Amino acid sequence: MHQDVAKVLLDEPTIQAKVRELAARLSEDYQGKCPVLICILKGAFIFTADLMRHLTIPTRVDFMAISSYGNRTRSSGVVQILKDLDRSIEGEHVVVVEDIIDSGLTLTYLQENLWSRRPASLRSCVLLDKPSRREVPFTPDYLGFQVPDEFVVGYGLDYAGLYRQLPYIGVLKPEVYQKHS
Ligand code: IMP
Ligand code: MG
Repeated sequence: MHQDVAKVLLDEPTIQAKVRELAARLSEDYQGKCPVLICILKGAFIFTADLMRHLTIPTRVDFMAISSYGNRTRSSGVVQILKDLDRSIEGEHVVVVEDIIDSGLTLTYLQENLWSRRPASLRSCVLLDKPSRREVPFTPDYLGFQVPDEFVVGYGLDYAGLYRQLPYIGVLKPEVYQKHS
């Protein structure tokens, strides 16, 4: 285990089994369609890559980057598009793939923004949910795991850009981010 990680919350086999399960559900629900996965950078890139490889239907991927917390561990509520989609999603079946929903502000903003582009359908597939922290109501259509209100890293999730490459999801030791805040 990494020295900055206090405990492992979800180990690699647990995550991989859930990703296969979500991919099976998506493959079933989008049978006969070719959905566009919208990977929300950077946190969702590993989840999206694994999810895609288990889909049995044709699919496209596009990427969007939105403002993150910087080095802080709480949402500011200010959402800004740093990189937009390459292609129009008008008439497409869209699945937003996100690493974690916390306050719900990011996904609420994104849904509104993406609906205005007139997709045929729009759903969200989110790996982790911290329901205790919600500031605006939002229920993901596809969800991996609920997690407690602790700052987690690994499997794409970062703190200050670090720890994304860990194959598991772990709770960061509080002293690691208290040093910087
Ligand atoms: P929301 O707008 O508060 O729902 O924030 C969602 C975003 O916050 C995610 O895309 C993550 O980038 C970030 N985030 C929230 N909680 C954590 C965490 O525990 N670890 C790493 N990133 C997090
Ligand atoms: Mg993120």
